[in-house]
Amino acid sequence: MLTLDPSSHLLVLTGAGISAESGVPTFRDAGGLWEGHDVHEVASPEGFARDPLLVWKFYSERRAGMTGVAPNAGHRALVEVERRLGDRFLLVTQNIDGLHAAAGSERIIEIHGNLMRSRCSVCDRAPFADTTAYRAGVAPMCGVCQRAGTDALLRPDIVWFGEPVVADALPRIEAFVARAGKDLRFLAIGTSGLVYPAAGLVDVCRARGGKSWLVNLEPPANAHAFDEVALGKAGDVLPRLLA
Ligand SMILES: NC(=O)c1ccc[n+]([C@@H]2O[C@H](COP(=O)([O-])OP(=O)(O)OC[C@H]3O[C@@H](n4cnc5c(N)ncnc54)[C@H](O)[C@@H]3O)[C@@H](O)[C@H]2O)c1
Ligand SMILES: [Zn+2]
Repeated sequence: MLTLDPSSHLLVLTGAGISAESGVPTFRDAGGLWEGHDVHEVASPEGFARDPLLVWKFYSERRAGMTGVAPNAGHRALVEVERRLGDRFLLVTQNIDGLHAAAGSERIIEIHGNLMRSRCSVCDRAPFADTTAYRAGVAPMCGVCQRAGTDALLRPDIVWFGEPVVADALPRIEAFVARAGKDLRFLAIGTSGLVYPAAGLVDVCRARGGKSWLVNLEPPANAHAFDEVALGKAGDVLPRLLA
C-alpha cells in the first residue's frame, strides 16, 4: 500500500507499460524493435530526414491502431488518486497515446508529445490535432509554408531520440518538486528506466528524502533506486496500491 498523508505531494511517471493492457505494444519488450522497426529509423530526426514516407507510414499505423483502444484499470486508478490529491498530484507521462487524458487525468505533462497531433517540420505554427492516418506513399505538407511559397513536411508532434523534451515540461516539474519540498513522493509505472530525463526523476525525489515506489512487469534498469518495488501488471497492482 502506498501511504500518503494529508500533506504528501505525489509525482507519477508512466511509460509504455501502463498502456500494454489496453493493447498498445511497448517497444523494449519486443527486443528494441517497435512493431518490426529499429526505433531510430522511425523515431529520430535523422530517420525522418532519410525516409519521411516510412516515418509517416509508421505513425499513420500507430494512429489507426488506436481505434477502439480504451484506458485500463491502471489509468483509472491514477484518475482516482488525482481526485483525492488535487494540486498535490502531477502526472508525467512518456506515452504519446493520450490514454491518461481519455481516462480523465487532468494534471498531465506529456513529455514526449502526442500521437494525435502534427506540426510543421520547418515553421513555428502551433501543433494541431491530427488523427489522419495518411495513405501509403503520401507525406503531408504544411499549408502555411505552401501559402508562403515554400515546401515543408508536416511531422508528428512527438519528441524523437536526440530531441529535447516538450518545452515547458521541465520547469513545470521543477515547480511541483519545489512546492512539494520534503512532502514529495514518487511513483513510476511501466517504464524501462532507460530514457532520460524521465529515468532521473527518482533521483530528484531521493535527493529530497522522499519515498519512491515502482510498479513494473519486470525489474527495470534503475530498480535499485526505488524504496518499494511491486512487480506485476499495472492494471492489477495499481488499484490495490492506491486504494
Ligand atoms: N503507449 C505509448 O504511448 C508508447 C508505446 C511504445 C513506446 N512508446 C515510447 O517509448 C518510450 C519510452 O519507453 P518506456 O520506458 O515508456 O517503455 P519501454 O517499452 O521501454 O518499457 C516498458 C516497460 O513496461 C513494463 N511493462 C510491460 N507491460 C507492463 C504492464 N502490463 N504493467 C506494468 N509494466 C509493464 C516492461 O517490463 C518495461 O520495463 C517513450 O518515449 C514513448 O514515447 C510509447
Ligand atoms: Zn510550415
